[in-house]
Amino acid sequence: MADKPSYYITTPIYYVNAAPHLGTAYSTILADVQARFRRSMGYDVKFLTGLDEHGEKVAQSAEQHDMTPQAWCDSLVPAFKDLWAELEITNDDFIRTTQERQTRAVQHLWEVLRDRGYIYKGSYDGWYCVPEETYFTETQVHHADEERHTEGQHLCPDCGRPLERVQEESWFFKLSAFQEPLLKLYREHPEFVEPEIRRNEVISFVEGGLKDLSISRTSFNWGIPLPFDEKHVTYVWFDALINYLTAVGYGQPGEEAAAELARRWPAQAHIVGKDIIRFHCVIWPAMLMAAGLDVPGQVFAHGFLMVKNEETGKGEKMSKSRGNAIAPREVMDLLGVEGYRYYFMTDVVPGTDGAISFGRMHQVYNADLANSWGNLISRSLNMSAKYFDGCAPAKPAAADAFENPLAQVAEGIVGRYAAKMGAFAYGEAAAEVMELVHAANHYIEDAEPWALAKDPAKADELAFVIYNLLEAIRIAAHLLMPFMPQTSTEALRRISCEAEAGTDDLAAACAWGGLAGGQPVEKGDALFPRLQEE
Ligand code: ME8
Ligand code: MG
Repeated sequence: MADKPSYYITTPIYYVNAAPHLGTAYSTILADVQARFRRSMGYDVKFLTGLDEHGEKVAQSAEQHDMTPQAWCDSLVPAFKDLWAELEITNDDFIRTTQERQTRAVQHLWEVLRDRGYIYKGSYDGWYCVPEETYFTETQVHHADEERHTEGQHLCPDCGRPLERVQEESWFFKLSAFQEPLLKLYREHPEFVEPEIRRNEVISFVEGGLKDLSISRTSFNWGIPLPFDEKHVTYVWFDALINYLTAVGYGQPGEEAAAELARRWPAQAHIVGKDIIRFHCVIWPAMLMAAGLDVPGQVFAHGFLMVKNEETGKGEKMSKSRGNAIAPREVMDLLGVEGYRYYFMTDVVPGTDGAISFGRMHQVYNADLANSWGNLISRSLNMSAKYFDGCAPAKPAAADAFENPLAQVAEGIVGRYAAKMGAFAYGEAAAEVMELVHAANHYIEDAEPWALAKDPAKADELAFVIYNLLEAIRIAAHLLMPFMPQTSTEALRRISCEAEAGTDDLAAACAWGGLAGGQPVEKGDALFPRLQEE
């Protein structure tokens, strides 16, 4: 383990104001696919997800349910944990900001920032959006929205919901000191914010100037108290961002924690939605710089899953607080967990917003999974079992005697696939695999194994063709594993290769000719039963 490079990846920690939905799950699966891919590339992965439990928004949700904030949070934890288990999320840790380790880390950072001179006490007078837990100045506020009949109200410029007036004593973080260092970071490490469209947004925001940030609240108490000023609680975003450090030992006692921090920090990737890039790409690196810590390697910010608002006819962001969320259950019931993962990871391009379309889900599932990948498996395994007495053919000795188009398609596939996967271009990575799958299905049509089987003189060629098909399946299963772990493992099991699942050397596992030959092959039921068209 020790010689494996560390790869630390995180999801946002979600507010505990309602059960998770397709959007929440999207970020989490996106991170899971990367975590699984990196494990197969020989990394020692730490994959963190969790919950953001403090702040006004969560306190209000609790109040609406007549519960204390802690009891409310506790009651919702299973909704997240159970869904992640069902969606095959392989997080190694689950952080809750109400845990003691978080209090320790946050209070430690307060001390560090005070010692280093990056905070000061003042008073805040301005606007606050509770659903977004964000401060806005007078000039940023929207005043009227005729469409929604909200003339005269003060509205959030980001989400359009009514703002709250806040006037209170507050501690401030000297964010304004970091304009130049941040611009330098984006210049020297453009990969720090991906995709490019988000980087440009972040750069122009920072170029517009940075104001010091209010980072404590006194008008309510559901938060982490300041170690040196007990009537203040930490601003929920300041608290939340620190979770990424807490989980790798920051502010925790003992040598082990220090070693873990040295080994794991900085994180390689924070997966977030584009709604929270200012926090992750501006405030967070500034906090780290102020504390004398390294900034993460990358913030990867994907777009929104959108739903149509029936009143306005417009697409809007699916969200827990808007109450327009689609439950993952609906999609799982339609496509199965693996079809669900495959669809969202390969067909919804993370750089842009994606409208939810059940019609498109049908299409992708049937085209790629039922008709191509699933069909290849059932035809090939069926023929192998039938012609070779329940087994794979022996590994062909006279391989040079015949054409092998599949080995050609598979040549270099891991390199092409890995470049796309590492860049979160999952759709393009899957397309590489589907090319092999399509080639294998065409190969069946061209080679006509059923005809070869009738001619004893063609026995070698038949063995060669079937071996190649099983080998293409073995390789495709390895490459599809991060998207569809269960069915890919099952495909390997049916050709007696399940011991290879969970490899940490993907390139070696996918080298052509790895299939031993002669081992039992089990036909099994359809892995992806075809869906009726809508
Ligand atoms: O912002 N489409 O939590 P949150 C895609 N607690 N992704 C979506 C989505 C959608 N329609 N809706 C939500 C918070 N997400 C803070 C984070 S991190 C230190 C603190 C995903 O519950 C997406 O990743 O509002 C988005 O950034 C996140 O959920 C926001 O979750
Ligand atoms: Mg939100």
